[in-house]
Parts: sequence; structure tokens; C-alpha cells
Amino acid sequence: MSTDWSEWHDAYARPNAALGNRLAAVRDQIERYMDATTSDPVRVISACAGDGRDLLGVLAGRKDADRVSALLVEYDARLAARAGEAAAALPSAVEVVQADAAHSDIYAHAVPANLVLLCGIFGNISDADVRTTIEAVPELCAPGAEVVWTRHRREPDLTPSIRGWFADSGFEEVAFVAPEDELWSVGVHRLVTTPRPLEFGRHWFTFLR
Ligand SMILES: C[S@@+](CC[C@H](N)C(=O)[O-])C[C@H]1O[C@@H](n2cnc3c(N)ncnc32)[C@H](O)[C@@H]1O
Repeated sequence: MSTDWSEWHDAYARPNAALGNRLAAVRDQIERYMDATTSDPVRVISACAGDGRDLLGVLAGRKDADRVSALLVEYDARLAARAGEAAAALPSAVEVVQADAAHSDIYAHAVPANLVLLCGIFGNISDADVRTTIEAVPELCAPGAEVVWTRHRREPDLTPSIRGWFADSGFEEVAFVAPEDELWSVGVHRLVTTPRPLEFGRHWFTFLR
């Protein structure tokens, strides 16, 4: 990887930054999911989790965080360590693994998940890899699981294709948040077909930067 992803996270601290608005939109969707599943245990998978501030930020503000267990997979050691520190303060059972999140085997002990976070991935991999990853998501999911994903809408805007690939893979759209004056978008899709078992030995995507 050539990008300093730890430095990239500094943009979250800039006031009125688009990244902060995107984070708020992702957190809103996690909150909505938690509110809709009161009292049920929730298993979360976050691929390329960064420092985990989307999920962990929500859990830090919730009294029912103890019903959540999560696997966060992040390649960058500094970010994984930061996620681990934030997770340690929570009553949730959060495991942070520093590894390549594209390897299907990483998820063997964490499936099936009720909530899958694919944030900050689809803008950094090839279109073909986006499609491959979406087609594999039912392998991570419990019945009715929701997936929260992000993607910029710079031309050529891939989000219409992404939404179509989710539909083709057995998902219905729950939300698509795409403010006119910003370039980010946050999508949420719910699995409405039968999940598939995890296929081992697959590598779904490669970061291009
Ligand atoms: C755009 S950031 C998104 C971070 C976080 N999900 C967020 O939305 O704030 C992309 C993250 O993916 C991580 N990453 C890149 N390639 C990865 C890989 N193959 N496996 C795991 N993490 C990876 C980077 O280190 C970085 O933290």
C-alpha cells in the first residue's frame, strides 16, 4: 500500500470536512440498525476497519453495547492498535485483527454476521473487485443481515452499478444517502435471500493506492 492510511484518518479531525459528514451518515445507519434490533445479540464484521471509529463510536454511546460482538480487520498496524485501544474501553466483545481483509479465511470464526461494514473500500479497488466483493458478501451474512458500504460519486459514478450488483446478489436497498452538495455516498443493503457458506481460500480485492 502506498497511501499512509493513518495520516488519511487525520481528515476526520478537520471541521466541516466531507469525511466527517460521511462518518456521521455511517454512524446513523449503525444506530438505526441497533435501535431496530433491541435486545438481540448483534455480530458485526468490519473489513478495512481503519481505527474503527464508525462502529466503536456508536457503541461508546450506547447502554446496550454489551450485546455486540465484532471482528474488525485492518492491515495498518497503527490503526489496528488504535482500534484495539478504543475497543478495550467498551463492554462489547471486539476482536481487532491486523491482516488482509480481502482473504475470506479471516472471517471463518466470525460468520454469520448480522451487520457488515464495508466502508472506505469501494473507492480504492478496481470495479471488477468491487463486484467480486459484493458477490461474496452473502457468505459473511446471517439471514436478513445488513451491509453498510461507502463509495464516492466522482464520474464515472459507480454507485448505480454497485446498487445493481447488490440487487443481483440477493439484497434489497434499505438506504442510499447521497447529498447533492457532497461526493460521498453511504448505502445500506439487507440480504433477502439465503446466505451462502463461506468459501475458503478466496481473495476478493486488492487496494490500488
Ligand atoms: C479509506 S480507509 C477506511 C477506514 C475506515 N473503514 C473508515 O471508513 O474510516 C481504508 C482502510 O483500509 C485499510 N486497508 C487497505 N487495504 C487493506 C487490506 N487489504 N486489508 C485490510 N485493511 C486494508 C487501510 O489501512 C485503511 O485503514
